[in-house]
Amino acid sequence: MCGIVGYVGREACADILVDALRKLEYRGYDSAGIAVFEDDKIKTVKAKGKIDEGLAVKLDEGDTLQATCGIGHTRWATHGEPSDVNSHPIGNGRVSIVHNGIIENYRELKSFLISKGYGFESETDTETVAKLLDYYYEGDPIEAIEKALGDIEGAYALGIVFREHKNKIFAVRKDSPLIVGKGEAASYIASDVTAILEHTRDYYFLERGEIAILSEKGIRFTDIHGLEIEKELQTATWDVTAAQKGGYEHFMLKEIHEQPEAVRNTVSPRVKDGLPNFEECGLTAEKIRNYRNIYIVGCGSAMHSGMVGKYLIEDLAQTPVIVDIASEFRYRNPLVTENDLVVIISQSGETADTLEALKLSRKKGADTLAVVNVVGSSIAREADMVIYTNAGPEISVCSTKAYAVQVAFMYLFAFAVAYAHGKIDEAECKRLTAGLLAIPEKIQLCLDDMSNYQYVASKLINADSLLYIGRGLDNALSMEGSLKLKEISYIHSEAYAAGELKHGTISLIDDGMPVIVAATQSKLFDKTISNVREVKSRGAKVVIICRESVNIDKDCADYKVGLPDAEDLFLPLLSVVTMQLIAYYTAVQRGCDVDKPRNLAKSVTVE
Ligand code: F6R
Repeated sequence: MCGIVGYVGREACADILVDALRKLEYRGYDSAGIAVFEDDKIKTVKAKGKIDEGLAVKLDEGDTLQATCGIGHTRWATHGEPSDVNSHPIGNGRVSIVHNGIIENYRELKSFLISKGYGFESETDTETVAKLLDYYYEGDPIEAIEKALGDIEGAYALGIVFREHKNKIFAVRKDSPLIVGKGEAASYIASDVTAILEHTRDYYFLERGEIAILSEKGIRFTDIHGLEIEKELQTATWDVTAAQKGGYEHFMLKEIHEQPEAVRNTVSPRVKDGLPNFEECGLTAEKIRNYRNIYIVGCGSAMHSGMVGKYLIEDLAQTPVIVDIASEFRYRNPLVTENDLVVIISQSGETADTLEALKLSRKKGADTLAVVNVVGSSIAREADMVIYTNAGPEISVCSTKAYAVQVAFMYLFAFAVAYAHGKIDEAECKRLTAGLLAIPEKIQLCLDDMSNYQYVASKLINADSLLYIGRGLDNALSMEGSLKLKEISYIHSEAYAAGELKHGTISLIDDGMPVIVAATQSKLFDKTISNVREVKSRGAKVVIICRESVNIDKDCADYKVGLPDAEDLFLPLLSVVTMQLIAYYTAVQRGCDVDKPRNLAKSVTVE
């Protein structure tokens, strides 16, 4: 979603701001802009569209900016269409702001400000904040910020400049993320650290109720009343190359190839003496034994990883698991109690619905475990316990490696729950854990030859619609395979439990409709094959994903995608890689914008 950047230093800042905004493009946006101090004025340049087609063109056409301090923004429209006027920065020459989040009471604020004589140009909620700051400003920025925030309801991260306070940036946040970077002779603000990694790895998390004041002299922090506070400097472990394409055509392809390492980095640190170990966050076997139910909550791919978790935990540990979509969970008064564990899954750690689901679970007294990729994100900070998935930055909007590591965590967690409940003994738990540790090498085998995925993709590119089917773990995986394909190739696709087809959906099958079948589980194989024959005899073009060593009759499936040999239980971790690659090459061959699919944002910080 929207991205914020800001710079104060000695160098001309327009290019620095625009480059930093480019690093945030992955979050999704439809306009971009900057505001800088130029000749004692705040000069704003902003434009609808992609940076290189809008903002950068306007900057090239205008006068060269000498400014050494400014703020910038990429906007993902929520209130008001994508347009030049609705783009940020927004202000009136005296105050200018960039804003992420949503101001819930903007209508009342607008009426109030109109009654005070203010006019409005944009349709945004953000303009009310800019005007409110202007209304309260009587020479002291902190006082104006304190008063304005007192009136605002909603989520925000704000970068603010006041014309009378040349070369200073003020930053505040509530519920939307914002970090403050400390460079050699420069300071930065950014929605996330990837925007400034090129300049510095040292940064501060801005907490709710804190104000950062950045100037040529450095960074100060105060509380909302202006009292100075000390903050601890953090150092990002991600380096700048982690957020670049590294020779791959797309971030998605790079991130698919990073999966062996990502899975290794997630699993290995949580294995001690051959057994799963979550002591780092205080999740002990005793705690696990005492939970009545386990809930797993997330959105999109994160929720899909929870579906895999459900199959694994219920099967291995015989413990009930309820998987829920965060946006449903938070509004349906779930039966969560203080005896339950709620596992909250999120790559970004900022997804608005997931964050609210976490808060609700805490309110109901449950223990909460956040499984999050972005260190220090809101979800990580709100939860009782945190496991970081260590996948490194995921830039492509379409999740691949972040999903794989969430699933890898689910395996380790399922083994821990089964062992804690005495459903598997130590030897079996060690055997399963060793099996999981060996999976990165097998994922690598799936990545060694791309030709089959490209070939299968070439058979899908003209489809209007297709189905993914499977049973058991393959059903859970198919949900993710189907989401990957539709989100980046724009081909309609649905995932169905194979045995459920007969109850309605099979009527969709007609001549040439592609059906992608995951058939990795031996005990369900024959059942799945009978479903395959049902769709095949009605004209479907069948792609089957199964072990390479399994022979498939030509009259049963049209194309086979073979997987390396592994224990049944682990094959889904391999089949998902093949599904990601089929989706990737289908989208590439259809000429789609793979890393930035239309209408989507990487981090969904509004509901
Ligand atoms: C799909 C995808 C989304 C996210 C979802 C949750 O490829 O990326 O479905 O999984 O928006 O995001 P996080 O994990 O950041 O909470």
